[in-house]
Amino acid sequence: MLTLLKLLKDGRFHSGEALGAALGISRSAVWKQLQHLEAELGLSIHKVRGRGYQLAAPLTLLDPQEIGRLASSCNWPVLAFDSIDSTNAEALRAIDQGQASPFIVLAERQTAGRGRRGRRWASPFAENIYYSLVLRIEGGMRQLEGLSLVVGLAVMHTLRELGISAAGLKWPNDVLVGQKKIAGILLELVGDPADVCHVVLGVGINVNMQVTEEVDQQWTSMRLQSGKVFDRNLLVAELGLMLQKYLSRHQAGGFSAIQAEWEQNHLWQGRAVSLIAGVTHIDGEVLGIDSQGALRLKVDGVEKVFSGGELSLRLRDDS
Ligand code: BTN
Repeated sequence: MLTLLKLLKDGRFHSGEALGAALGISRSAVWKQLQHLEAELGLSIHKVRGRGYQLAAPLTLLDPQEIGRLASSCNWPVLAFDSIDSTNAEALRAIDQGQASPFIVLAERQTAGRGRRGRRWASPFAENIYYSLVLRIEGGMRQLEGLSLVVGLAVMHTLRELGISAAGLKWPNDVLVGQKKIAGILLELVGDPADVCHVVLGVGINVNMQVTEEVDQQWTSMRLQSGKVFDRNLLVAELGLMLQKYLSRHQAGGFSAIQAEWEQNHLWQGRAVSLIAGVTHIDGEVLGIDSQGALRLKVDGVEKVFSGGELSLRLRDDS
């Protein structure tokens, strides 16, 4: 089915006969595959008698070779999939099968994209970035401290570099434009964090998505913010270079070397918030983060520190 899509991706008309000949199948088999493409991947295909078939909009697919060319100083191997349950899940399977780290898993779509706190991550075909970078961490918790916040900072800078200048951070690792989420990060870890472990840095960026009914929070995309269509290969290349830069700063100086920069880009600094931990809500004012990336809140006049993957923040109505 995707071979057919690759023939159509130029956005031009192709006759059923030519497509059938290229694939070695009949015209009616071409017709069936086209119907599958529309139903399965949500693509829109024009069918015009006498001219053939045309994708409603041309498509640029992920291309590991092109990514390597655009980011030649970043030689992390890329495993790219047309469709996968979750790039994080695939990364964990690849670690289990002995794939050497670092490496990247990318997909055109995810059928079970994972978000934080058990949520799903909307992952339509060929519209966004679904990216997992695997690192092997040796000898210590220090290398894990604040790591997800560092990834958030690298994602934010990548978006700004490509023109989304209002991108900012929300603790612990959301990237927002105003109140709307444009990117999310999910870290998953296997092994012994005090000894040798692997960490999967999962990044989802809303790139060219314009509509979805799958997201139950305020969201936006690079395209909605700028009116432009973005080249996802370029975005993946830029993200790799930015991650490389921030991860090496983190490795050399620990999170404390990045703490101040992170706080400067925190959109909710000084705001009145509720910290949500399951059914518990704690009201406070955001003071900032500590040298390990934990949230500092003023609660009833006293500074308290919070950390943990299951926590999330909401702005209070009076903020
Ligand atoms: C969040 O809820 O904010 C985190 C979303 C993380 C989504 C990305 S998409 C690539 C990677 N694979 C997944 O299944 N999830 C992460």
